[in-house]
Amino acid sequence: MALPRRLKAPPTTWQRDVDVVVIGSGAAGLSAALAVRPVRSVLVVTKDVLEAGSTQWAQGGLAGVLDPADSTENHVRDTLVAGAGLCDEDVVRTLVEEAPASIRYLMRLGAAFDPSHDPVPRPGLDIDIALTREGGHSHDRIVHSGGDRSGAEVQRTLEESALGAGVDVMNHTFALDLVMGARDPERVAGVRVARTDVDGVVTSVGTITASAVVIASGGYGQVFASTSNPPAVTGDGIAMALRAGLAVRDLEFVQFHPTVLWRGPGARGQQALVSEAVRGEGAILYDAAGVRVMAGVHPQEDLAPRDVVSAAISARMAEAPGGVDDHVFLDATHLGARFHERFPSITAACREIGIEPATERIPVAPAAHYSCGGLTARLDGTTAMRGLFAVGEVTSTGVHGANRLASNSLTESIVSGTRLGRDLAWELPDRVAPAADVDEPTAGALLDPVRSRELRTAMSRHVGVVRDESGLAMALGATGSLARSASGDVAPSRESWEATNLLTIARAVVTAALARTESRGCHRRSDHPATDPAWVRHLSIGLDAVGDLDVATTPGP
Ligand code: SIN
Repeated sequence: MALPRRLKAPPTTWQRDVDVVVIGSGAAGLSAALAVRPVRSVLVVTKDVLEAGSTQWAQGGLAGVLDPADSTENHVRDTLVAGAGLCDEDVVRTLVEEAPASIRYLMRLGAAFDPSHDPVPRPGLDIDIALTREGGHSHDRIVHSGGDRSGAEVQRTLEESALGAGVDVMNHTFALDLVMGARDPERVAGVRVARTDVDGVVTSVGTITASAVVIASGGYGQVFASTSNPPAVTGDGIAMALRAGLAVRDLEFVQFHPTVLWRGPGARGQQALVSEAVRGEGAILYDAAGVRVMAGVHPQEDLAPRDVVSAAISARMAEAPGGVDDHVFLDATHLGARFHERFPSITAACREIGIEPATERIPVAPAAHYSCGGLTARLDGTTAMRGLFAVGEVTSTGVHGANRLASNSLTESIVSGTRLGRDLAWELPDRVAPAADVDEPTAGALLDPVRSRELRTAMSRHVGVVRDESGLAMALGATGSLARSASGDVAPSRESWEATNLLTIARAVVTAALARTESRGCHRRSDHPATDPAWVRHLSIGLDAVGDLDVATTPGP
């Protein structure tokens, strides 16, 4: 049942050397690359193309206090409340204080955020910018672009800026494993990568050596059958860190977005998001019997924090009102024709399934959306391993705690990536010689990619919005038998590496979810419904020398 400590791949045939290599090309990775580029050589590697990750799909926007009627204290408080006791207040405060500058920085880089249509401008607001609200926010503080195309605008801006600044890019390059120092096996010296064709077939394997390796590869939404995340989001960076001996924390906190478009029973893979900003603009959730879902559940009703709304929808679906147990409805018809202007992407997605959101209720259901846990890192990207840095969704910095506040993640990616890039521009870690490449075919058994469907189904069925011990035990059994099926005969390819990484992540998520015997934030256990003060602790998971997972807890903030 051991998980691989190294991904099987053909022998390395080439080597390249840069100052900084960044793995991943979303907002965090590109921010780091852009900030470091003026004085260092920097290479971004992405297993697909630059915009294949989650940033491109973000709808809501970036949270930041711009309105003088809002305050840092409000934003800090909202983040801490959503994070359910596991945020690090100092880190949250730093993020919130730097958020407005990060938004203005993006604007200076050319990001076009939507202007305000307020007939009366907000007193004291010195830029013409629309501010909206999402779940858990006590004030309007989300900036957006193209209505619901905020992430695409951030991605475009950062891509153009990074490429214009001379950041080098290797597309279709899969990061396999960290390469450690020859003399210092605790120190990262580079990364072993595989170049593939567009279908993921390996064309060559090489080593990129660098003074700094930055993991910015995003989360692991694709470990579930239904997710808002694009296909590339397979937890590669977290699996790679585990294989390198780095413990990761709080993986059980998977945020389920309350409202992805429900396209019918059995819809799988990436689902179209129906942004929380739709509820921010006044939309209301109803069950199939026409009864409100959020009335009386939380003081903020439809704009309660995401974990609360997802849990309430799941509970209501379990009661099968009107005979419907797999979706509810979002009514935004009060917006009328304005819906199309404000939410063009959501309109297009709805129309694809024959729904006219200006006049009809939208069928929605929760789906995996954001990985709140990850590699333990500071907001400046430093980790416990020398030479290794991490930024963005792949990390656990203390900002999100047990449940991320909406639209704090793009902001964190810009703040954190830019801080790291500036620091590395200022000073690089010492370079170390890489250990020689070794061929370990048995340690690198791969999961046959045809089995990943089974994996995802088991995860969605047993490790979804609401969990219990018997379901989690079934998921552990299912992932265990998949781990036993992994074999040295499976051919290395992007698909088989992704499947193997998903398996590692799935085992780690289930192990963590079993261990946390309480409900907190986006980890809900029907057999342990209370939040237990004894569990104000982080749950750390590591991979031991033989490929078994170890669990430990460390004190919370
Ligand atoms: C949304 O638009 O609802 C998603 C925003 C986010 O996840 O931060």
